[in-house]
Amino acid sequence: MELHLLRTPSVDTECDLLAVGVSAGKPVLLPQVLLDRMGLGLAELLTAEKFEGKAEATLQLPTLGKLAAPYLLLVGLGDAAPDQIRGAAGAVGMAARKRGARKVVLDLSAIDGAEVPSLAVQGFAAGNYQFDRHKAEASRKPACVDLLLGAGAEIYKAGSRDQVVAEAQGLVRDLVNEPANVLYPETFAAFAASLATDTMTVEVWDDARIEAEGMGGLHAVGRGSARKPRFVHMRYRPAGGAITSVALVGKGVTYDSGGMSLKPSDGQQTMRCDMAGAATVVGAMVAVDRLGLPIEVHGIFGAAENMNAADSYKLGDVLTMYDGTTVEVNNTDAEGRLVLADCLVYASKLGVSHCLDLATLTGACVVALGSRYTGLFTEDDQLAADLLCAAEGAGDGLWRLPMADHFRKTLEVEWADTNHMGGRWGGASIAAAFLSRFVKGPRWAHLDIAGPAFMDKPERYYGKGGTGAMLRTLVSWLESLEG
Ligand code: BES
Ligand code: MN
Ligand code: ZN
Repeated sequence: MELHLLRTPSVDTECDLLAVGVSAGKPVLLPQVLLDRMGLGLAELLTAEKFEGKAEATLQLPTLGKLAAPYLLLVGLGDAAPDQIRGAAGAVGMAARKRGARKVVLDLSAIDGAEVPSLAVQGFAAGNYQFDRHKAEASRKPACVDLLLGAGAEIYKAGSRDQVVAEAQGLVRDLVNEPANVLYPETFAAFAASLATDTMTVEVWDDARIEAEGMGGLHAVGRGSARKPRFVHMRYRPAGGAITSVALVGKGVTYDSGGMSLKPSDGQQTMRCDMAGAATVVGAMVAVDRLGLPIEVHGIFGAAENMNAADSYKLGDVLTMYDGTTVEVNNTDAEGRLVLADCLVYASKLGVSHCLDLATLTGACVVALGSRYTGLFTEDDQLAADLLCAAEGAGDGLWRLPMADHFRKTLEVEWADTNHMGGRWGGASIAAAFLSRFVKGPRWAHLDIAGPAFMDKPERYYGKGGTGAMLRTLVSWLESLEG
């Protein structure tokens, strides 16, 4: 997608869709030239349609030859709060997608602020996204978007940073949406390997190596599938030397049937999304590498398919994890924490200052927070504050949930060092408690993205499917480490 930043009057620009942002709270004021060209009818129409410029509200009108664009889209900016601007641009992106518009002009000259271009790019890209790789007729994607900025807005630093981030988010969504018969551990790892550059190396362990190294969790989860597991370590080293080093760890379960503790059909339908944590890590690595951040970043994930088959791991099995901890299997559908635990041990050994993990880990987190919030688990108050701040700025919902010793107590068991599931209540916190015993050294936070990683129905600027939730937050947080 090409992005142009313009200051010329939008009404005369040849395009397929002319979108104009309109603020709420005052009578809808459109550029006079627009009203003149469209005639009085426009103002009357707005009143009749009760279009008041509320955030993300849209009104689309054919221009019947009166403007250079065949369609005029009015989009509400609300009070022009950052997330409202992002949302409005998202609504334009969605409308452009539905129209198959190839060239879009988005006129945001009604508002000012240095952040406007950045928010517009983020929102537009999110709303415009479509996964149509497997359809006979691919939809038309916009080749070109012109952003018109208010006089006070700083001309956007090449539009580059946010376009890189938007593309990385699109990549996460592609990976999540890719069906499990196409994206399975081997192909997922091969894709990660294909991302290697001068500054990024990618190491892949196959199943034999995973077993030989003693990653008993990842090995057990992947054992029931003909598609054998992989362990992936991406490592970005900035050309100019690093100021600190960080590990990002993801759950890469390319399909979660539940294993012997089989999920009902409904629960399985979208479980190709269970590698969203790993996809987000991959997306973040691509963004970090392209942005050339001065931080060493490790991207680590275990990829496995959790199947119900002759060789599946079973309830009551005792697994030996990468650090030697023994775990009694309690429910083979709690597979994510086993995959993550081995990866967290690996990350701990790298001597990084911070470790974040992302996982579609528990239904309990979705019950608690719904589909727009990621659950944040950490005992590190400063890290929590930094992540919450990054999420606020990036427009990702993030909410802190408790970690406490009593959750860990529910994991005590007779025949192994730990059980891998506790009682029925507080399931998301119990999962976090399980993970915590495998992190030794780095400052750590666990992000349960089970809710926002994948939409069962369209919400805001996200259509059905993968969202790339938390990708923008991760990049912002990593950037904040620079200072
Ligand atoms: N992948 C699921 C969690 C999930 C649920 C992700 C819904 C996205 C949407 C995870 O592996 C799982 O099955 N968790 C179990 C844990 C339980 C057995 C302790 C769950 O949440 O039911
Ligand atoms: Mn599961
Ligand atoms: Zn799972």
